[in-house]
Amino acid sequence: MNHQPLLRMANISKHFPGVQALDNVDFEVYPGEIVGLLGENGAGKSTLIKILSGVYTKDQGSIYFRGESIDPKNPQDSQSLGISTIYQELALVPQLSVAENLFLNREPRLIPALGMIDFKKMEADARIILHDLGVDIPPNKLLKDLTVAAQQMVEITKAVSRNANLILMDEPTSALSNKEVKAIFEIMNRLKEKGVSVVFVSHRLEEVMKIVDRVIVMRDGQRVGELPIQEASMEKIIRLMVGREVGLFHKIEKEIKEPVLEVRGLSGNNLVKDVSLTVRKGEIVGLAGLVGAGRTDVARLIFGADRRTSGTILINNEPVQINNPSDAVKYGIGWVPEDRKQQGLVLGMNMKENASIAILQRISNLFGVINLKQQNEIVKNYIKKLNIATSSMEKQVNELSGGNQQKVVLAKWLATKPKVLIMDEPTRGIDVGAKAEVHALISQLAKEGMAILMISSEMPEIMGMSDRVIVMCQGRITGEFDTADFDQEEIMTCATKFLVFDSPTAN
Ligand SMILES: Nc1ncnc2c1ncn2[C@@H]1O[C@H](COP(=O)(O)OP(=O)(O)OP(=O)(O)O)[C@@H](O)[C@H]1O
Ligand SMILES: [Mg+2]
Repeated sequence: MNHQPLLRMANISKHFPGVQALDNVDFEVYPGEIVGLLGENGAGKSTLIKILSGVYTKDQGSIYFRGESIDPKNPQDSQSLGISTIYQELALVPQLSVAENLFLNREPRLIPALGMIDFKKMEADARIILHDLGVDIPPNKLLKDLTVAAQQMVEITKAVSRNANLILMDEPTSALSNKEVKAIFEIMNRLKEKGVSVVFVSHRLEEVMKIVDRVIVMRDGQRVGELPIQEASMEKIIRLMVGREVGLFHKIEKEIKEPVLEVRGLSGNNLVKDVSLTVRKGEIVGLAGLVGAGRTDVARLIFGADRRTSGTILINNEPVQINNPSDAVKYGIGWVPEDRKQQGLVLGMNMKENASIAILQRISNLFGVINLKQQNEIVKNYIKKLNIATSSMEKQVNELSGGNQQKVVLAKWLATKPKVLIMDEPTRGIDVGAKAEVHALISQLAKEGMAILMISSEMPEIMGMSDRVIVMCQGRITGEFDTADFDQEEIMTCATKFLVFDSPTAN
């Protein structure tokens, strides 16, 4: 492209204690272009985005936006320049309506001096903005009554309505179903038509290839390459990202033995109805379904995180009473939750403390004194096994990159050496290289005799890893498949069995 870039970042560096997060990075975005910003966990993607959005300040380098030198000091700064950021954690107010969220702090007034909000105008304006982007959401609906995808769309709409020329999206789709992702992509394409540029960060490479015009790849804080999408392939991108070939889905020969976990007639959370399933020693059972099908609820009910209204749980053929998570742990059940920030990690603690929190009793003496040598060894072992990128074991977990936080949650539960491990979206937000490592590890654990129940929304992961697939829709089991009978279309048919299709954004 020979026209002027909309954004040019030159020689950007950023240092954090113990790590050079960005090392002389150049980055440019042209008008009306969607750029994929890719790289392994900890490569520096979010740091670059945060510098641009005014959350972090750069140590060195220059930023030019629409031909002028800029230096955003805070998010308001960057927003008023025409740069809007959409993070994975949504920044909207759940109790307010869609229209109220769109116009928060800039509501139209009936009589400006008196400050009374002109609700009628606000709703009408909101309707126009939403319609303009093809977003089919009623402006008077409360935000909390929308799906995550629809909320995401409101957030994007809000960004656009502030006349942003550049929208930064840091893993906006990682919690969304395929259908919802499609709807977000439609909006991205409309933005492009309007001349708005988008920077898109995602670890779902198939997705990235479908939407972006160009990819820029980072590794260890440096920009290592760039590809126009016409010249890009999965293999090329992966090689740039990790510097080597990556083999996906390690299925290894193993023996599947007697049942370890049996669930009979499980109901609860006003969603799960009469779910029965068995996971055997050495077996990986994939729990498939769309977002909201009740898979996470099944995990929470088994683990005792929520109270079930009916159902029996058996461990090694013995009925057990699980009324809370510590009962579950006592019976040898581990749970890698979906939402690592809320349920997986203690953000005020460092990496070592988090990784060993579930085994403190095992590595302490009678007086409750922790065997520090043992603790260090165990944690060190998992840092190596999972290839966790951290400058030290004492690093605070909130200073780790998103994908590395997920690996710490994994380490925490693996260290307990559970008999049964329930994993909810175990590789969400994890880069391709690490994903292959986590997959190999899951297969190895099964081979060593662990019974694994794996919830995943990624069809290739479900089909590539599982020995058996159970499908859910609206809280019920709607299908079960053995390895030999895996068929993506049939699984999808079961996953949508009770659904009536209407607008992709409706709740
Ligand atoms: N506030 C912080 N304090 C200390 N170190 C930080 C901080 N934020 C990021 N880092 C470190 O900077 C490096 C780059 O992190 P960054 O979050 O930019 O990675 P990323 O490419 O977004 O990775 P992911 O794909 O896992 O989200 C990592 O080593 C991370 O631990
Ligand atoms: Mg990140």
